[in-house]
Amino acid sequence: MRILVTGASGLLGLNLALEANASQYGGHSEHTVIGVVNSHRLFTQAFEVIQADLLAPGALESLIDKTQPDWIFNCAALAIVDECEANPDLAKKLNVELPRKLATIVARGGARLVHISTDSVFDGQVGSYVEEDHPNPLNVYARTKLAGEQAVAEADPYAIIARVNLFGWSLTGKRSLAEWFYSNLIQGSPILGFTDVYFCPMLVNDLAQVLFRMAALGLNGLYHVASPKCTSKYGFGVAVARQFGLDDRLISPVSISESDLKVVRSPRLTLRCDKLVQALGGPLPDWESGLSRFFELYRQGYTQALHNMAR
Ligand SMILES: NC(=O)c1ccc[n+]([C@@H]2O[C@H](COP(=O)([O-])OP(=O)(O)OC[C@H]3O[C@@H](n4cnc5c(N)ncnc54)[C@H](OP(=O)(O)O)[C@@H]3O)[C@@H](O)[C@H]2O)c1
Repeated sequence: MRILVTGASGLLGLNLALEANASQYGGHSEHTVIGVVNSHRLFTQAFEVIQADLLAPGALESLIDKTQPDWIFNCAALAIVDECEANPDLAKKLNVELPRKLATIVARGGARLVHISTDSVFDGQVGSYVEEDHPNPLNVYARTKLAGEQAVAEADPYAIIARVNLFGWSLTGKRSLAEWFYSNLIQGSPILGFTDVYFCPMLVNDLAQVLFRMAALGLNGLYHVASPKCTSKYGFGVAVARQFGLDDRLISPVSISESDLKVVRSPRLTLRCDKLVQALGGPLPDWESGLSRFFELYRQGYTQALHNMAR
């Protein structure tokens, strides 16, 4: 299989590209993996790296023509809530127009697409959302991600669209909530943990494996892909502290209403994944086992190895 990963310098894309050859993807153990980066430099022998601004005219067409992928995992996005609010045009280009173009090219034949979306398409007033529930995005990021889902589904009904939430180690050390808790706690910095914001994050390495299994099974359409257990952001921070033997008293339990966050966020982003569990024939990995593996990866030098890729 030839696997093309867009956003390969990002939190999901990098870990997914690294996991590809560790997976039992379609019964094969070896795949040709090609990762696309844009502004970041990435040095690795684990997969081929291509630098491309996918918003440049003709860049996407030429990339696909050159790489001839069997599967494309679209992890490129503008995924930072505040940046989307500040640059709504860029958010639209990356989160809506790029996926639409990708799905349109893929629908002509030759490749299959896995497009990544987010739990944030919901307003988080109720929680326990299933795929059929009505989305109600609250900010530019969420609105553009929902529009991206719709654009992909229209252009390529065979695409997998995965609504995810994730944590893990990243190239920059700054892309996930777990990294944020870890880096503040290790420096002894006091921080806030929201007691009234809930989510169901999955370790990015586990998430990658689930996405590969979905692809191997030939699934299509919209799926929720999240941890079967959920927690508050505060509870997650305390668990990170305890996992690393750090002082959880540095985390103050507060309401999000006490924070200085400017962009409105959904408070209860808990997803039900029954559709996927049924399709896979077994349970999904939960965040607690993911956190143990997050720690194990750290102990094995994975964190530093990722940072070294940025040199
Ligand atoms: N992180 C989360 O907590 C979270 C939660 C729910 C859903 N998601 C979804 O998961 C997906 C991956 O998110 P992430 O956190 O891994 O994102 P990320 O770390 O911010 O990475 C974004 C990637 O997009 C690439 N990119 C940006 N502009 C590009 C361009 N013009 N051409 C080519 N590539 C470009 C970036 O490349 P450069 O950095 O090299 O420019 C980077 O590799 C997104 O769809 C996001 O909405 C993420």
